[in-house]
Amino acid sequence: MVYPIYIYGHPVLRKISDDIQKDFEDLDKLIEDMFETMHKAEGIGLAAPQIGKLIRIFVVDGTPLADDEPELADFKKVFINAHIIERSGEKAPMNEGCLSIPKIREDVNRESRIHIRYYDENWGVHEEVIEGFKARIIQHEYDHLDGILFTDKVSPIRKRLLRSKLAGLSRGKFEVDYRTILPKHKVK
Ligand code: NI
Repeated sequence: MVYPIYIYGHPVLRKISDDIQKDFEDLDKLIEDMFETMHKAEGIGLAAPQIGKLIRIFVVDGTPLADDEPELADFKKVFINAHIIERSGEKAPMNEGCLSIPKIREDVNRESRIHIRYYDENWGVHEEVIEGFKARIIQHEYDHLDGILFTDKVSPIRKRLLRSKLAGLSRGKFEVDYRTILPKHKVK
């Protein structure tokens, strides 16, 4: 099932998500649906709050970019109850976008390395140090679990320039090929 994606300005994108329990109902189906939703929208990451669920799950699939970014060749996975333990390395800018913020891309500074603990779909626990492009994607998705969007992290000048564009998005001024939910529950 493909979920509609919540758009900038919707309060659900600003909430803190909770860990889930191991008896969480239909977890496999939810993960499958999150992948399907992400692929339909041609995204490389999708976090549960973007489909209106305030739980600490996100999926990533960087494999479509593997021709240009070989390190992403096997980077298709789900992160459950993820917690970043430490961020390190140089902060560097990289251009980011987000399915909840269509048609806007900005350079965002992030650390190059993270130490993260999470569960996989079989409740195997992982603790890993991840670097580079993967760390970038994870940090973007992880931020969604804490109600943070990439546009929060741009410079004050860029923020001012973005303000009217973001307000436009919240009113539905954009065209995408996936279903969305605007603030005030207007489905587009
Ligand atoms: Ni995003």
